[in-house]
Amino acid sequence: MHAELIIMRHGESTWTRKEVNRFAGWVDVPLTERGRDQARKAGGLIAGAGLSPDLVFTSLLKRSIVTADLVLDVLDRSWIPVQRTWRLNERHYGAFQGQTRPAMLARYGQDLFSTYRRSFDVRPPQIDTDSPYFQGADPRYAPEMDDGLGGPDPAAVRSECLKDVQARLEPYWRSRLIPALAEGRTVLVVTHGSVVRSLVKGLEGISDQDIRSINVPTGIPLVYDCTWQAGSFSTAGPGRYLDPEAARKGMEEVASLGRPGSAGV
Ligand code: 3PG
Repeated sequence: MHAELIIMRHGESTWTRKEVNRFAGWVDVPLTERGRDQARKAGGLIAGAGLSPDLVFTSLLKRSIVTADLVLDVLDRSWIPVQRTWRLNERHYGAFQGQTRPAMLARYGQDLFSTYRRSFDVRPPQIDTDSPYFQGADPRYAPEMDDGLGGPDPAAVRSECLKDVQARLEPYWRSRLIPALAEGRTVLVVTHGSVVRSLVKGLEGISDQDIRSINVPTGIPLVYDCTWQAGSFSTAGPGRYLDPEAARKGMEEVASLGRPGSAGV
């Protein structure tokens, strides 16, 4: 059985704009107009590739949800089923949430800053529970809202590394995404940079060390041709960005946010 898996990061958000350059994590920031345009263009890229999603997954954060809505509107497929889960949320950035990248770079130095931002198993410092960027009482994480696999205890989520993202994603991948692909469906996942990195790491067998160099552009669909045969899942090679040049520029843009001299307010 063949299936198509389309994975994409949300469009530019108000905090990923290079002039603002703040860490968002679980903070629910909106898209910019550029980010909304990126989402609409992504819909055109998906249509141009002859792909027609019949199931969509998003996180619980509006930058992912609205990006998915705009993509589906362009495809005239706003009617397809959607499943939303905290497990597709961006990694929780701990005490970095709400802070500018330049400020964190200055405080921790390039090596430790890069480790907190891109390593596999090192968490940023924990967020204080009295921080305005802490989600301890956020109603979207209430027990009755969970995805059927158990929700997070938001009061206990104080910081995450990529390994934590992989651990909370795996049960969802196994019980929700794989079965949809096994039925031959075209699955669209609109999520966040760290979740894309976690999925790509697993799908392409990227090492814990090499994943440090992977950056994810905003708003460019990444497609995997999948096969489900005799109870096993495989992909026909690495993912392909539907606009490789825009993806290359977007990856560079993401990398540059964390370099000395970048702006931030
Ligand atoms: C955020 O959470 O701020 C971004 O989505 C990811 O930021 P990063 O590219 O610095 O990890």
